Amino acid sequence: MPAAAQTLHTPGLNDSEGLPRWDTRVLRAYEPPGSETPSAHALAEAAGSLERGRPIVIPTETVYGLAALALDREAVEAIFRIKGRPLDNPLIVHVAGIDQLPSVGAELTSLATRLAQRFWPGPLTLIVNARLALPWVTAGLDSIAVRQPAHAFAAALVRRVGPLAAPSANMSGRPSPTRARDAMLDLAGRVPLIVDGGDLEHGLESTVLDARGDVPVLLRPGALSLEAIEAAGERGVEACAAHASVRSPGMKYRHYSPRAELWLYPPSSDRDARARLVDDAHRLRSLGRRVAVIASHALDVEHFIQAPADPPALGRLLFGWLRDLDALGVEYILVEGVSRAGVGRAVMDRLERAATRARGLDGEATRSGSPSQ
Ligand code: TXA
Ligand code: MG
Repeated sequence: MPAAAQTLHTPGLNDSEGLPRWDTRVLRAYEPPGSETPSAHALAEAAGSLERGRPIVIPTETVYGLAALALDREAVEAIFRIKGRPLDNPLIVHVAGIDQLPSVGAELTSLATRLAQRFWPGPLTLIVNARLALPWVTAGLDSIAVRQPAHAFAAALVRRVGPLAAPSANMSGRPSPTRARDAMLDLAGRVPLIVDGGDLEHGLESTVLDARGDVPVLLRPGALSLEAIEAAGERGVEACAAHASVRSPGMKYRHYSPRAELWLYPPSSDRDARARLVDDAHRLRSLGRRVAVIASHALDVEHFIQAPADPPALGRLLFGWLRDLDALGVEYILVEGVSRAGVGRAVMDRLERAATRARGLDGEATRSGSPSQ
């Protein structure tokens, strides 16, 4: 039950005033814990909330999502208000399989069909033509983003209740939640239920591909690498960073940001960069600043985090670390980048978006645009 009755005042769509307040409950996704058997109790509670029009937090194999029934206009509109998300940033619809696509009007091209057959369920979002008008999901675009989650709880839930619109379950601009407690920190009181799926397989959002033409166009690098897509025989995956913000509205916003300043450096193979990172860390320390370093080789600072050499392992841990360092009151996070091969491309994309300063990468990064997502 809402802790406070909803007011009669009609708020703007992304205005959190007038949202019900909840005593947020946390339920485990799997029973017994450690298994991959979706808990019947959690599934029933999650389905009940969604069917009553109440957005909830669910685990997926990428990041935690803030979900509502895709066809429930009011519930999906509430997602924007709960997160403080800009209204021009469309949502991904999660489906249980290709068979659920017609109910949200998603029409696959032959390219999209091949990609879905090859990579679903999994961390691949396809932008396809929309045959139904669901402007609360698509922000009025004539395309729609769809993906089939691989996470056993999310998959069972979508099979049971139908397609779910779900952005990442963070307050707009913050790093995506990769642990139930991160979603709790951002959304406690704003949702009735958080389903705790433990640590997630990827910890990075899905790869977003525009699959409306003959050649897939990368709009957001993610947990599925370009190399994997190319290895499946899809030649000419076009990385169009410059156009991604036009074709994928979310990419124009700054996000994934910790509260601390994040300074990003080239990978450790660049010896000058390593020296610059060490200098900066010492200089900031001597100025009395609270500094953390995420790098492959140990350094004498207040908070040192050893980054795994393997980009998927780093991707799994990164957002949680940024949140942990914020909680410790760190003022500067100095991060050594990784090679852009494989999942490294998505890791670097997220770091560049979170960075207040990029030292020695192509161009100085600055935070721009307004917080989002
Ligand atoms: O892994 C993920 O993708 C997670 C989990 C929960 O599924 N979701 C996620 O959603 O990261 P969100 O809303 O944080 O990011 C969705 C991205 C945004 O950049 C948005 O602009 C883009 O997908 N998008 C959605 N619909 C689109 C469309 N019709 N055309 C182009 N881009 C679209
Ligand atoms: Mg997001």
